[in-house]
Parts: sequence; structure tokens; C-alpha cells
Amino acid sequence: MSYENIVFDVKEEIATITFNRPKALNAINSALLEELQNALNTIETSQDIRVLVLTGAGDKAFVAGADITELASFNPLQAKLFSQKGQAIISRIQSLAIPAIAAVNGYALGGGSEIALACDFVYASENATFGLPEITLGIIPGFGGTQRLPRLIGANMAKELIFTGKLIPAKEAARIGIVNKVIDAEQLMDKVYETAGSIAAKGQVALRAAKEAINHGLNTDLVTGLAIEVDAFTVCMTSPDAKEGTTAFVEKRKAKFNGKLTG
Ligand code: CAA
Repeated sequence: MSYENIVFDVKEEIATITFNRPKALNAINSALLEELQNALNTIETSQDIRVLVLTGAGDKAFVAGADITELASFNPLQAKLFSQKGQAIISRIQSLAIPAIAAVNGYALGGGSEIALACDFVYASENATFGLPEITLGIIPGFGGTQRLPRLIGANMAKELIFTGKLIPAKEAARIGIVNKVIDAEQLMDKVYETAGSIAAKGQVALRAAKEAINHGLNTDLVTGLAIEVDAFTVCMTSPDAKEGTTAFVEKRKAKFNGKLTG
């Protein structure tokens, strides 16, 4: 598939999806959702891609939300289908077996914040702005924001942001736990790829097990979560990388992971 609304690129085991509608501040329309879905198909079926980075084209926006021009044309049924489709695709980012990092380089509003919330963590440039301003359009977040934001930062903080629709700068987003790190705009992508590279070099079985244990564990009670961890830990111990990692420690050398899912 050729892409017009995103750029999809894979280099050295790191895939990058760049939202690419700069004239509309990378807003998400139906065509962009289709392309995002297609890129995720490729990522999900690849054994070579180890980390996904998501970012926005240009220096003004990550994604300024759903495309409001398109939204304005929807009847309620079309709006329902758009919300369901957006949720399903964005949920796939969260459930990817590999880690997904959001590199937020400007406005991440509405659907843009919702994409960032579905990633495993967010690095943001100093000029990034977050928010769920849907209330100012007479609607509510429709790509998971009412569910993921309270789970991440607590119900009261999420309610304040969603009820007021206010926009917050990167530093405030970091303070309340939406953003892991705030970085100089010029250095953002270097830092993101440095972290992505460090993650990509780790044992793939362990990485996948860690993500699955955290994600599944958060959706359940502690006792069940701990049982999920035991199973995931046990699976790791069957991998050649576990053998290599533990042997290398005992032999006082650096581990050389083969990084494969099988021996
Ligand atoms: N949809 C469609 N077009 C958008 C857009 C969006 N979400 N955001 C910006 N644009 C367009 C503008 O219409 C403008 O286009 P023209 O040049 O053709 O007029 C262009 O991008 C540049 O935007 P501005 O001139 O508005 O730039 P600014 O610097 O003055 O303001 C902004 C930037 C504060 C981000 C402002 O554009 C804005 O408020 N955008 C809307 C943000 C928003 O409400 N997002 C939520 C959308 S609803 C949603 O996401 C629902 C959901 O959960 C699924």
C-alpha cells in the first residue's frame, strides 16, 4: 500500500509512523485511519521490527485530533463507526507485542493525545501541548480518552482536563504522569531513537513478556496479575536470551542477545 497521510519507515529494527497531514496539523481523517491500520498489519506480522516510534510531520503538531471538517459532516451513525474504528485501531497500538513510543513534537490534542495515551510511554518536546478539548466542540473524546486518561492519571485529574478542555504544556503533562521526559525540540528524535535502540537490543522474548504482563496485569486484580507475571517469567526462562543473559552475568561478560523469538 502507498501512504499519503502517514509516512511508514523501518530502519534497523525500529519502525516509525509519522502522521503526515501538516496542513491540517496532522489531524486524523478516515483515510489516515486506514493507512494507520495497514502499517499496524505490517508491524504485527513482522518478527524483525522491535520497537515502534510514532511522531508527527513538521514542527507544529504531533496530531491535532480527529479531523473536525470530516467530523462536522458525520451523522450519529457515521460518528459511531468512526469512534469504534478509531478506538479499535488505537487499541492495537497498546496491544502490540513490541513497545510503542510516542515522540510528541507539538500539539497532541483530542485523538492526538489519545494516540499518545495508547503508547507505552511518551517523550515530548518542550513546545508540546496536550489536551482533550472535545468539550469545546460539544462532544467528548471518542478514541479512548475518557477511559485511558483516568486510568493513567486518576479520575479527578482526568475529569478536570476533560470537563474544561484546557490545553497543558509538556512540563505539566510530565508532572501529572502523561509524559515520561521533556526534551529540547531539536534533540527529541535523537533521544527517542536512543531509547528505542536500547530497548531493541534487549531480549525480545523478555520484552514481549514484560509488556504483556504489565498490560494484562493492569486489567485485573493484584493476585491474578502476580500469577500472570509468574507465567510470563517462566516463558522467558525457556528463551535462548535468558540462558545467554544469566550465563553472561555469571561469566562476567556482556550478554550478546540473539534477539530472536525462537532459538
Ligand atoms: N481537524 C481539522 N483541521 C484542523 C484541526 C483538526 N483537528 N486542527 C487544526 N486544523 C487545521 C486548521 O483548520 C487550519 O487549517 P487552514 O489553514 O486550512 O485554516 C490548520 O490546521 C492550522 O490550524 P490553525 O490555523 O487553527 O493553527 P493555530 O496555531 O491557530 O491553532 C490549534 C492550533 C490550537 C491546534 C487549533 O488548530 C485547534 O484548536 N485545533 C483543533 C483541536 C481540537 O479541537 N482537537 C480535537 C478534535 S475532536 C477529536 O479528536 C475527537 C476524538 O477524540 C476522536
